[in-house]
Amino acid sequence: MFVRCAQIVAMMAGAMLIALPLRAETLQATSPDGAITLTVSDERGLATYSVSYGDDQVIAASKLGMLFRDHHGFDRDLTISGSTTTSRDETWEQPWGERRLVRDQHSELAVTFAAQTGPARNITVRFRIFDTGLGFRYELAEQEAFSGDINIIDELTQFGVGEQTMTWYTPSDEFNRYEYIYRTGAAGKVDDAHTPVTFRNPAGIHFSIHEAALVNYSGMSLEALRPGSFEARLRPWSDGIRVKTSAPFKTPWRTIQIAPDAVGLINSDIILNLNETNAMGDVSWVEPGKYVGIWWAMHIRERTWGNDGIHGATTEETKRYIDFAAEHGFAGVLVEGWNIGWDGDWFNNGALFKFTESYPDFDIEEVGRYARSKGVRLIGHHETSADVSNYESQMEAAFDLYQSVGVAQVKTGYVADAGDISRIDENGIQKFEWHDSQFMVDHHLRVVEAAAKRQISINAHEPVKDTGLRRTYPNWMTREGARGMEFNAWGTPPNPTEHISTLAFTRMLAGPMDYTPGIFDLKPNERPPVREDMRRGDPSNRPQTTLAKQLALYVVLYSPLQMAADLPENYEKRMDAFQFIKDVPADWEESIALAGEVGEYVAIARQERGGTDWFLGAVTDGTPRTIEVTLDFLEPGKTYTAQFYRDGEDAHWETNPYSIVIEARDVKGGETISLPLASSGGAAVRLIAKGD
Ligand code: NOJ
Ligand code: CA
Repeated sequence: MFVRCAQIVAMMAGAMLIALPLRAETLQATSPDGAITLTVSDERGLATYSVSYGDDQVIAASKLGMLFRDHHGFDRDLTISGSTTTSRDETWEQPWGERRLVRDQHSELAVTFAAQTGPARNITVRFRIFDTGLGFRYELAEQEAFSGDINIIDELTQFGVGEQTMTWYTPSDEFNRYEYIYRTGAAGKVDDAHTPVTFRNPAGIHFSIHEAALVNYSGMSLEALRPGSFEARLRPWSDGIRVKTSAPFKTPWRTIQIAPDAVGLINSDIILNLNETNAMGDVSWVEPGKYVGIWWAMHIRERTWGNDGIHGATTEETKRYIDFAAEHGFAGVLVEGWNIGWDGDWFNNGALFKFTESYPDFDIEEVGRYARSKGVRLIGHHETSADVSNYESQMEAAFDLYQSVGVAQVKTGYVADAGDISRIDENGIQKFEWHDSQFMVDHHLRVVEAAAKRQISINAHEPVKDTGLRRTYPNWMTREGARGMEFNAWGTPPNPTEHISTLAFTRMLAGPMDYTPGIFDLKPNERPPVREDMRRGDPSNRPQTTLAKQLALYVVLYSPLQMAADLPENYEKRMDAFQFIKDVPADWEESIALAGEVGEYVAIARQERGGTDWFLGAVTDGTPRTIEVTLDFLEPGKTYTAQFYRDGEDAHWETNPYSIVIEARDVKGGETISLPLASSGGAAVRLIAKGD
């Protein structure tokens, strides 16, 4: 629904009331179900928008605009010079994903603001309003006032969320990129935040601010403008310019997901819907799947990446993992540390990495051949230690090599402090950029495209955040971009008990995460060191979960490449629990978040793609609780065999994490079941339709 109204406004000047015949225009549009109302105005020459849900305000009147270094900006003296409306309702199919069919139903309002002073110029803000939130972006058309290069120095988009609104966020200006324990507090006390950032306002409305389709632009974070009101801040280049572009251009979409409850945020597809359609054509070669790998052994200091006597990536050790993968039905084996460059201080020696040369004890052709003979694929690894120029100079050859040995997926890595991405510029000068800068936004797409030429898919660690680009580039399958399992080996402190139930409502709204779940030895640092100089981490560094919660992660944390991260020998000791990891798929027909509260607990059900089984995962924070889940996603009245993997009655993440009950019983579609969850516990359930 769209409304247009003109108002006469009065302005106060000093003590005198002057009636100005200034006509402010106000436009309104609503979501298809009418619950969300967007209001756009040019009152007092400012471009503003506000958003409400039912009778409750979500975003107070907040400014829009943009400033340039060499051109007149859009910040004041603006008037609405035109608008158009349209709507869409169509369903599209994902090649892989958390659901196969995605409905894109929205109303669109495009508002053009013209400047009243300075050279003639205009900018359009396009809004799309869905039942689960809205997105808007700026579009600058080709025009006389914007010839030549355009240097954006500020985007003025504001988000007035309210001072008392609860916020779950990570800071955006600290050294560890996105890898922080989530912080919680009133919005009025938050200085800066990465997106997605999740809010719950005093009316109980949940919303999340993020962005969609981040291309040709720099990443946006939020900076407090005044308590409870944030402004978009674009990550600058090393020379201070925030975005380098030219007209015409479109910014990424600024998104505000909105729902009456927490799970409504998870059940929204607006980020994907605001991305462009698949640009890669046939992507049947992009293969979701589960993998194991030479990985955790290095993080718990059992093995090393470098070649120093306990080297992890040897031909022999890789074959052991290949055998394990083949025996238990895993599609891939990740191998880290096979290539030259890891010896010594690899964190700071990115220039030493050789992406096509292996250590003498690793025969890449032989392990590739062996993997193929077993029906398994190697998963490649490109750790760059953030020396991006060194990587780009070898990238084509590196992907050629991987293609020649049958690698279908490559994990990339950019270990370095925030702001320490090294590149050599066109004048041969070393520059340092941010992980979420325009330079890196562009770099990641160069990698994704080079990989696609070889039918290789990408899993980026220390990445730029996900903004739904998997729709356009389906071989950009997953990424890290939050604290993953590795922090439980050496992080101080490790991921807290509420980490997963926070991630589900924050980071996971952006897209899939390679969290690397499935640790079965929950006290890895209590083992004696394998060598005197290989001291384990502090014993307090451990997954703060029960065993059942490790299994639930496979359903709760979506990733099309899903790792079984522990050592094969630890799985061999618990084949009963390992069965769930063998059974759970990595690609889904449908996903439904059923219940939860941010940071407390969450339950999600997913149906396997190409099958009829459903899987249910539920996790809680440190508070034990029993949650009731109605199986109304199953066929009503139909009988299913439910295989439960749940916490034992005496389970507790700290004192008794291995207590697990594995049992099967029949349930019916529509029935309500109780899931008892221990302190930082979980439940994983497989539901098999009977008679199929
Ligand atoms: C950090 C990544 O997140 C981790 O998975 C990897 O093992 C190390 N970097 C080494 O590349
Ligand atoms: Ca990492």
